[in-house]
Amino acid sequence: MIDIGGAKLKNPFMSASGCFGYGQEFAKIMELNSLGAIVVKGVSLEPWPGNKGVRVAETPAGMLNAIGLENPGIDYFLTHYLPWLNEKKIPVVVNIVGRSVDEYALVAQRLNETGVTALELNISCPNVKEGGIAFGTSKEKAFEVVSAVRKETSLPLWVKLSPNVTDIVEMALAVEEAGADALTLINTLTGMVIDIETGKPLLGNLTGGLSGPAIKPIAVRMIYQVAQKVKVPIVGVGGITSLDDALEFFMAGASAVQVGSALFRDPLLLSRLPGELESYLAKKQTNLGAIIGLARRNS
Ligand SMILES: Cc1cc2nc3c(=O)[nH]c(=O)nc-3n(C[C@H](O)[C@H](O)[C@H](O)COP(=O)(O)O)c2cc1C
Repeated sequence: MIDIGGAKLKNPFMSASGCFGYGQEFAKIMELNSLGAIVVKGVSLEPWPGNKGVRVAETPAGMLNAIGLENPGIDYFLTHYLPWLNEKKIPVVVNIVGRSVDEYALVAQRLNETGVTALELNISCPNVKEGGIAFGTSKEKAFEVVSAVRKETSLPLWVKLSPNVTDIVEMALAVEEAGADALTLINTLTGMVIDIETGKPLLGNLTGGLSGPAIKPIAVRMIYQVAQKVKVPIVGVGGITSLDDALEFFMAGASAVQVGSALFRDPLLLSRLPGELESYLAKKQTNLGAIIGLARRNS
């Protein structure tokens, strides 16, 4: 068992929010129980329609998305998706988005006593005009929203940080002080693609979030830096496509990892990773605890 800020997971592999929906499509091709947890698409107080126009673009070594946090809202999630997920007996981590401190706090409140395993506050989505990123790039705002949610819940509270900042350590320390039980690093980096036929930005939202292998070294660097300064566990995410990639995240200091964009190309990746890690640990005669933070101890 792995303990991520009070959330008990049977292995350290999870879906990244927004890349696994609410698990229903993946349940048709894999055993959801093979995951440590499902992290669902960001849920808001009211339904959000998402952005118009082109919403995804392939890039060298990754992809750009500007979905705009489209989701059916907390009421629909609680009545349609959560009962189905609870039946599957798989730990569910609910990614929360909001336009204001109150919206985040109200969604968190609604998730009390619903059986979910943890909350993951997304204060880092670059694809909505209000909220999201605004909280993730100011340490005062991040502190405020995390403190407000902390008051509403005793569930394990994970906070997902944005890499679109100058000093990631400063953000991590602010949300730890506000009561986060764990940190998720990293969300996407803001990017843009121009359609050279029209001469206009390709995405309807103009900019989007870059994910996939292109961002992996940035994620590893940020986890390495933050792990030296915080006491809470870190969940690593950003560009993982294989066990080797995941091992880098563990060695940098992550206690668990999430896989996102890679699932669009290799949907069964998450079902293989737990077994691959076990074989690796057996071959090296070691355990996960011994490799978490190894790169820091070795440098
Ligand atoms: C299509 C898409 C939708 C996403 N939606 C969310 C979301 O709702 N909430 C969130 O916190 N992150 C969201 N993300 C970010 C991912 O969870 C992850 O942090 C990021 O993609 C980096 O991981 P990856 O390189 O493995 O994809 C989304 C990413 C993609 C590609």
